[in-house]
Amino acid sequence: MKPTSVYDMFIISLFLFSQFVRGLEDCRSGMYPPKGPTYCCYSPHMINQMFKGNVTWYTVNLDLPPSERWTQVIKDKNTELFTMVQTIKDMAKGFFHGKLVDLVDEELPLIVDTLPQPFSEEIKGIAAVSGIPLGEITLFNIFYEIFTVCTSIVAEDFNGNIYHARNLDFGLFMGWDQKNKTWTLTEKLKPLVVNINFQRGNKTVFKSTNFAGYVGMLTGIRPGVLSLTVNERFNTDGGYVGILEWILGKRDGMWMGFLTRKVLENATSYEHAKEQLSQTKLLAPAYFILGGNRTRQGCVITRTRINTLDIWELDRKLGRWYVLETNYDHWEDPMIFDDRRTPAMKCMNQTTQASISLASIYDVLSTKPVLNKLTTYTSLMEVSTGTLETYIRDCPNPCTPW
Ligand SMILES: *[C@@H]1O[C@H](CO)[C@@H](O)[C@H](O)[C@H]1NC(C)=O
Ligand SMILES: *[C@@H]1O[C@H](CO)[C@@H](O)[C@H](O)[C@H]1NC(C)=O
Ligand SMILES: *[C@@H]1O[C@H](CO)[C@@H](O)[C@H](O)[C@H]1NC(C)=O
Ligand SMILES: *[C@@H]1O[C@H](CO)[C@@H](O)[C@H](O)[C@H]1NC(C)=O
Ligand SMILES: *[C@@H]1O[C@H](CO)[C@@H](O)[C@H](O)[C@H]1NC(C)=O
Ligand SMILES: *[C@@H]1O[C@H](CO)[C@@H](O)[C@H](O)[C@H]1NC(C)=O
Repeated sequence: MKPTSVYDMFIISLFLFSQFVRGLEDCRSGMYPPKGPTYCCYSPHMINQMFKGNVTWYTVNLDLPPSERWTQVIKDKNTELFTMVQTIKDMAKGFFHGKLVDLVDEELPLIVDTLPQPFSEEIKGIAAVSGIPLGEITLFNIFYEIFTVCTSIVAEDFNGNIYHARNLDFGLFMGWDQKNKTWTLTEKLKPLVVNINFQRGNKTVFKSTNFAGYVGMLTGIRPGVLSLTVNERFNTDGGYVGILEWILGKRDGMWMGFLTRKVLENATSYEHAKEQLSQTKLLAPAYFILGGNRTRQGCVITRTRINTLDIWELDRKLGRWYVLETNYDHWEDPMIFDDRRTPAMKCMNQTTQASISLASIYDVLSTKPVLNKLTTYTSLMEVSTGTLETYIRDCPNPCTPW
């Protein structure tokens, strides 16, 4: 057998396996409110440690100096953050005979000063409070720019009320735990998930679901104004290129997670947010999924690093009452061995606009393979009420790895 055909066999087996598992699952119903994960592989002690189902809330005070904002979150999550960073380091040791780790410890601290404010100071503050080397906290912050696979949905009901929900899937190819049938990194991330209420003058400005230690945003809501999620867009001109350019000194693009934070923190309307998300130069290609507070305010923005390829919007006249994004351009077919779009759309279509709600979208996001072994959390948002609810997920066997 030629070496390349081993790879082909691998892909074909993955495809057959995923089809097999997919065949088993009809659209779920009655999953909301969640009863918490099934505890097949964990002792009660582990469950208490690892899963809090309904994610806990923290307040981050934007009136404080950036270096002090994250102190409480980091104090609470220090052990979990330490374990996570150690896991990433152990994996990185496999590359270039450990040289990659040296590079992180020696070179990345220099990069922190090139990051814009308030991010640079916030990252330094997190390193100081946690006692974890600055380079490693920086690596943790860069990580999400590259490896996030997800499903995001914005839908409108008959009354023009907008719902926005997402599964965040993270940790692909980062250590498969054969015994527990889980992704090592995904499991280590679950205890780091926190909800944050960002305040100025004791009033909520926006809310987000975050991994403790990360200062960018992947999921957030500005009550009454907008909701925003980011999905990775894989491309040969991908995240690596922009990040390398940044490290080498070409710094005219914006970090994806920093742009979303800026929009949530400072954009005052849906239109304003749409403009910033589609016009700012980026380090990595991405999908921005944006929701608003009134009819037709929902879209998927398909980005290259430089420009916007497409803005796909809700449109009542065309019967487009929802937009749904995984990790492929909506006008192209998804890869056959990673088609989460068709099952998700099938379930949305079965649900119908008449019975769409946060609860019924939770059902869609609980259907395999939309729910899979990489799924870290499910978030539900409704701009008009300011709702953000996030649940840690567990995908009981049999379940696809992605
Ligand atoms: C999760 O917590 C929120 C408030 O933080 C609450 O509104 C919601 O009902 C809770 N969900 C469940 C399933 O307990
Ligand atoms: C796998 O499950 C066992 C308990 O059955 C637990 O002790 C172990 O920590 C788990 N491994 C990971 C990586 O979560
Ligand atoms: C916020 O509330 C606290 C106590 O609830 C109060 O001491 C503080 O002065 C308030 N800060 C602002 C900026 O209003
Ligand atoms: C958002 O929508 C709700 C319900 O339609 C409305 O009550 C509220 O005033 C709107 N908020 C803003 C900021 O427009
Ligand atoms: C939002 O605007 C304030 C005031 O101009 C600024 O200090 C802050 O850095 C901005 N936030 C972000 C994330 O850019
Ligand atoms: C769902 O409905 C839309 C609009 O009618 C249609 O274009 C799409 O093919 C349907 N998808 C599935 C998987 O049923």
